[in-house]
Amino acid sequence: MIRVGITGVNGRMGKALVQACQSRDDLRLISATVRPGSDLTGADAGQLAGIPSLGVPVRESLEDDLDVVIDFTLPDATVANVQWCRRHGKPIVIGTTGFEPRQREEIEEAAADIPIVLAPNMSVGVNLCFNLVEIAARAVGASSDIEILEAHHRHKADAPSGTALKLGEKVAGALDRRLEEVAVYERHGHTGPRPRDAIGFATVRGGDIVGEHTVLFASEGERIEITHKATSRLNFAHGALRAAGWLVGQAAGLYDMQDVLGL
Ligand SMILES: NC(=O)c1ccc[n+]([C@@H]2O[C@H](COP(=O)([O-])OP(=O)(O)OC[C@H]3O[C@@H](n4cnc5c(N)ncnc54)[C@H](OP(=O)(O)O)[C@@H]3O)[C@@H](O)[C@H]2O)c1
Repeated sequence: MIRVGITGVNGRMGKALVQACQSRDDLRLISATVRPGSDLTGADAGQLAGIPSLGVPVRESLEDDLDVVIDFTLPDATVANVQWCRRHGKPIVIGTTGFEPRQREEIEEAAADIPIVLAPNMSVGVNLCFNLVEIAARAVGASSDIEILEAHHRHKADAPSGTALKLGEKVAGALDRRLEEVAVYERHGHTGPRPRDAIGFATVRGGDIVGEHTVLFASEGERIEITHKATSRLNFAHGALRAAGWLVGQAAGLYDMQDVLGL
């Protein structure tokens, strides 16, 4: 039995992770945290997630006797949890997005000592799309205008999504372009014609959209669109639990969902 700690269990993903844990016989939630100072400290993690009591009271910090941590919170909180895992020699699955370059470096440094899965999207379907867009980019990318469109719920704090950026990196890498040199994140007013090498991003925020991504390859006379639509957060939660089960026993290092899924 793998003993799991989940951080930020009052969040949208935190609740989905607690729910998803119940469908796994090989994983057991033993530690759950909320933001330090939260009124919810001491509440039952199951009841917070809208399921029957699990007998796991939420705390302000993780318990020492867990086997793996799953973290979908905020960049600052995630970095603090990575430091906790490094001190305690525990693996961590990170779903949080929106890291600053310095925070990302800190995670990479910690991966010298502990195994870490860092993936902006834990969905199996999205990870398959990462491979599909590379194939499409190699086949038609040089003769196409490439645009990446994403849509999420109104609460999402970062833009474009971590998944959209990763799709951009995959496409740019397949075409020997550097995303930081060719990415266009905003267009307004007299923009002039579109540079051929540009990779454009468009962001929609609204309502309860769970997460939608399209990579568009537009050329003369035809258009290819590779689209993924998530309809429930449980999709990401099940992927994160799969990553957690895979990560226990791995050597220290930085992994992604492609490693977890063997894609
Ligand atoms: N990789 C993927 O597949 C995937 C999928 C979906 C979302 N995400 C990412 O996951 C992250 C969370 O998304 P979400 O929609 O669940 O956001 P959310 O609903 O805002 O949840 C974040 C939770 O983290 C809690 N938190 C903040 N600081 C904390 C700390 N120091 N200790 C413990 N808990 C803390 C917050 O507490 P309060 O309630 O007190 O504010 C909140 O409940 C985002 O970065 C999002 O982009 C990734």
